[in-house]
This record gives sequence, structure tokens and C-alpha cells, in this order.
Amino acid sequence: MTAGPRVDTPPPLRWDGATLHVLDQTRLPGEELVIALSGADDTAAAIKRLAVRGAPLIGVAAAYGLAMEVARTPTEPALERGAAVLAGARPTARNLGWAVERIGAAALAHPDDIASATRAEAEAIERADEAASAALARHGADALDAVLPSGPVTVMTHCNSGALAASGRGTGLGVIAELADRREVHVLACEARPLLQGARLTVWELRRLGIEHALLVDAAAPGLLRGGAAQAVVTGFDRVAANGDVANKVGTYGLALAAHAAGIPFVAAGPSSSIDLRLPTGAGIEIEERDAGEVRAAAGALLTIEGTPCRNPAFDVTPAELVWALVTERGAARPVTADTVARVA
Ligand code: MRU
Repeated sequence: MTAGPRVDTPPPLRWDGATLHVLDQTRLPGEELVIALSGADDTAAAIKRLAVRGAPLIGVAAAYGLAMEVARTPTEPALERGAAVLAGARPTARNLGWAVERIGAAALAHPDDIASATRAEAEAIERADEAASAALARHGADALDAVLPSGPVTVMTHCNSGALAASGRGTGLGVIAELADRREVHVLACEARPLLQGARLTVWELRRLGIEHALLVDAAAPGLLRGGAAQAVVTGFDRVAANGDVANKVGTYGLALAAHAAGIPFVAAGPSSSIDLRLPTGAGIEIEERDAGEVRAAAGALLTIEGTPCRNPAFDVTPAELVWALVTERGAARPVTADTVARVA
């Protein structure tokens, strides 16, 4: 496994009061390119192509995108158009619609000063997300610390749920980083085909955090868990239904099944803004189906026969009964039931 000295991670998003500067995550780990966004259309496009990604960060970016849009054109039609463009950028992460609704409500409540009301609301959303990251990391680490064997532990994670996916330390990876502050932790990072957020982003973060890690292909994970290679699986989440069913990066369901079979905890962590109490179960969660080209190719190289039909669901749904703990800034729901979820939502 690899570790090294800690290096600060550049923030994935920086607001200067008028413009949103985002680290283009499609370029990582090769290049740290910062791009400037100025309204709803370019922010929605950045979200769509995953320059800005991770459910909580998508919410924060969308809030600023809509605030910038109405600062330019402080009218209700501009608000409605910008909200529709942003909300339609990606369907699965709850935070996107949630943030757009909050900015819309702030605008409608202050029709005489839409620009400053929406800017203040976006800043409040970012501050709250950062506080949520810190609190949920502590709750998740507390829950795991209480049940993990003493001594060094190995934790498996999937996709990227760290400082690139949220404000502050992140969600699932934030829990792991908090645990690593308390005891020796090794991380097994799944690569997350097709867009490789694990290989490109989680490894980049783990290096900077100085946490020992090894990268694996997604298909290796269940067998490694069965063989006892990790003592817990920790991920983030994109949307959670009222009964605790969890939508997260495709491949999470298989990890949860394997963790359950191996008798180890599967923890899903994120801010309460990802919980969607309007949906009774995960059956109602819309799963984003992305372009077939992402499956046919990797790093620009064709992997199969041109034109091969592909399926490319970006997320899957893990049933609540496989989730050992559902963690938000309000605490850890355990066991995961409609009642415990309501308490952390
Ligand atoms: O498609 P992405 O990269 O936006 O996917 C989001 C994820 O990285 C994960 O599903 C994550 O666990 C939830 S966001 C912290």
C-alpha cells in the first residue's frame, strides 16, 4: 500500500463574491485546471460533464450558478429558466434540486433584492455543507470505532466521496479520514469504471492525506471482502429514500451485498440534504443513464467494437437492509429504518 507526507488538497470550488472558480475534475489527476463559471448555463454544463461532481458539491455549485444568473438578470423568468437548466443537469443527486429550490425560495421571498438574497443563500448552503461534512465524519468514525477490532484496519471505499465531492473533508472519505486521525487505517479504493473517480480522484486525495492505500478493479472487490481483506466498507450517497434505500455510484450495491455476506459493516455517509423523504423507497429514485461512449472507451482509447450497444447506469440502489449505518451530520441511523432515517434527515 502507498502513503506519503500530507499535502493540502486544492479546494474543488472557490467563490469570490461574483464568480465561481472550480477545479475541473475531468482533468485530474494529471492537471489542476481551474475554470471560471458565471451563470446557470455554464454551471449546468460543468455539472453535466462532471467537471464539478459529487452530490453535495453539485448542490453548492448549482446554488452559486443560479445566484450568479439572477444577479445578472434579477427577474422571475430568468430565475425559472436558470432553475430548470440547473435542475435538469443530472437527475440522481438530491442535492441539486434541493439547492435550486432553496435559491428559488430565497429569490421569491426577497423580490426587491433578488441578487443579494440568493447570493447570501448560496453562501449559507456552502457553509452548512462544510459543517455537515465535519459532523458526519465524526458520527461515522464514532460508529465504526466502537465495533472495529483494535489495531490497524482496512476500509474499502468506492468512487469518490472526499474533499472533491463536498465542502470540507467530504462524506464517505471524510469518515475514513476522521478514522485515520484516530487509528491506523489502510484504504482499498475501487476504481469506479467507467469514469474512474476512484482511480483518478480518491487516490489523488488519499496521497495528499498521507493515508496508505491500494487501488483495485471493481470486479476484485467482492472476492477480496469475502477473503477478509477489509473490515468495513464506507461510501457516500447521492440520494436516500425515506425507508433508507441508498442510491450511490454504480457498483455500491455489489459492495453492500459482499459486505453483508462477509459480516462486516457497510456505512453510507452524506449530508441530510441528500435525503429525499418524498420518496417512500429507492424504487422511485431516477438513475442517470449516461452516454454509451463512456463504456466503449477509456482515456480516449476504444475498448470494444465501434458502435457496440452498452448500458451505462451511473448509480445503483442498495436496499436499506444491507446498510449497517446511514450517517448524516445529525447522527448515525442504525438499524436503518424509516424511523431512524427520519431522525437523521
Ligand atoms: O457521478 P459522480 O462522480 O458525481 O458520483 C458521485 C459519487 O462520487 C458517489 O456516488 C458518491 O459516493 C456520492 S457523492 C459524495
